[in-house]
Order: sequence, then C-alpha cells, then structure tokens
Amino acid sequence: MGTATPLSPGETNPLHSLDEWEEDVLQRYPDPKSIAKEKDTEAYRNYEAPARDTVKEFYRLNHTYQTYAFVKEKQRNFLKFDKKEMPVWDAFDFLNQLVDDSDPDTDLDQFQHLLQTSEAIRRDGHPDWMVMVGLMHDMGKVLCLFDEPQWAVVGDTFPVGCAYSDKIVYPEFFEHNPDYSDERYNTQYGVYQPNCGLRNVDMSWGHDEYVYQMMKDSLPEEGLYMLRYHSFYSWHREGQYDYLMDDHDRDMLKWVKLFNPYDLYSKNPAPPNWTELKPYYQALVAKYLPPTLKF
Ligand SMILES: [Fe+2]
Ligand SMILES: [Fe+2]
Repeated sequence: MGTATPLSPGETNPLHSLDEWEEDVLQRYPDPKSIAKEKDTEAYRNYEAPARDTVKEFYRLNHTYQTYAFVKEKQRNFLKFDKKEMPVWDAFDFLNQLVDDSDPDTDLDQFQHLLQTSEAIRRDGHPDWMVMVGLMHDMGKVLCLFDEPQWAVVGDTFPVGCAYSDKIVYPEFFEHNPDYSDERYNTQYGVYQPNCGLRNVDMSWGHDEYVYQMMKDSLPEEGLYMLRYHSFYSWHREGQYDYLMDDHDRDMLKWVKLFNPYDLYSKNPAPPNWTELKPYYQALVAKYLPPTLKF
C-alpha cells in the first residue's frame, strides 16, 4: 500500500463538528421507538442527515491512519495524563470549548448532551454509577482541545493489530491502511491470542479509551465497559469479534448494550434545568471522583 501522505490542516478535520459523526451513527441505528411512533417533523429537524461526503471523508481518514503503531504512540503520549489538571467542574467548561459552529440553532453543547444522557439514565431508575457514566462518557473528547484530529477522537472504534471486520462502517477504506497489507496485523487474530479478552486488545484510539483510562479507578467494572466500548458499534450492535472475547466480555456486553440507547436517543432540543439539577450532580461527582481530573 505504501505510506500515507501527510495531511494539511484543512484536510485533517472534514466534519463541521464532532456531532456530525454521531448524527451519522443515528442514521445507521435509528431510534426504534421513534420509528414505531412516527416522529413529528419538529423532532426530525434536529436530526438532519449530515452531508454524507464529510462523514465519508472523515471515515476515509480514520480508517487510513488508525494503525497499530499509531494507537501505541497515542497510548504512550496521552495515558501519562501529564497535560493538564483541573477541578472536575472546570473540566466540563473545558470540554465545552469544543464549540459547534455548523448549526448553532439546533445543537446543544457537549455538557448538555452529557446531562441529557445521565438524566435519561436516572429517570429509568438505574444505579447512580450508571448516571455517572452518562455524565462522563464523552469527556474524552477534550482530546480535540489538545489538537488531535477528529479521526483520532471520534468515530466507530475497532480492534487494531488484527483483521478488520467488514461490518465496520465503510470497510473499503481499510485498504488504505498500511496494516491491511502487513502480515503481522492482517490475519484474523493478528497480534492476539484466540479469546484473549478485550482487555488485551488495543482499540483504535479515541475518546472511549481515553475516558476509560481517566475513570478506571472510580467506577464499577460494568460502567467501565460502557465507557471503554461505547463507540465499538461492530461489537455491541453488529455482534462481531466474538473470537477475541472471553466469558467476561460476553457477560459485560449486556451493560454496553444497555448504555448505548441513552447515548444515541436522549438528545432533545430542550436543555435540562441545570439550576435544579446542580445539587444532585455535585453530590454525585463528589461521591465518585477525586476533586481534580488529570488529562
Ligand atoms: Fe461518545
Ligand atoms: Fe455521547
């Protein structure tokens, strides 16, 4: 395949905002409840299909550049957590610097999405650690604020170091990835052992792995799986990669599946009433997290 050519800044980030990726995921996995009910046009307005070519270009970059070596390098760099340290509530403001300029009328900021996710979980009576998962699950998107390209922050995640599933969106773009023709990485198991367990598998680099590593001492195992694999759609939606899983992964899969609809289908144009909710969340965050977060 040869080496991929370096990208100019204009080519690096084809999406107008990170949300375009999630809107595209929503097109692929529409809310079964809204299909049944037939959504009114007002609700639809907020889920307009993103321009297909920007999303496609985004995946071309993601699939071309997420190599095994790239992932190892990002792990070395970011999992030292030596970039920044701040109080948890400042971290939400920090995350919100990711402004979306593509559609200011309809898009809520990152914190509103986190809060809508956590509130939907809370309304359904799930344990408070799962409410925490909802609140924190996209905190890893701060990677963008460390000048990481969009394709190394969002997008469906997948194992690197072994053959790619053809159930990953736009599988044809993997042909441009140098690992695709590298015999160390292009067999079914690649660098892994059969049923070695996902904990031994390196996933494409992005906000899932980063937030998991940030939270791994603070939440129960089920919640950590939700954080770590929430964008691994070829696993939790398409049932792929069973040959890498162990029994523990199979056991945890139901939790990842339980979380996913709250992430995808809780978006609502009306922002939650933060003043009312604030005391609950302050207590919750104080219960689970240390006073400061390291990035
Ligand atoms: Fe996410
Ligand atoms: Fe999300």
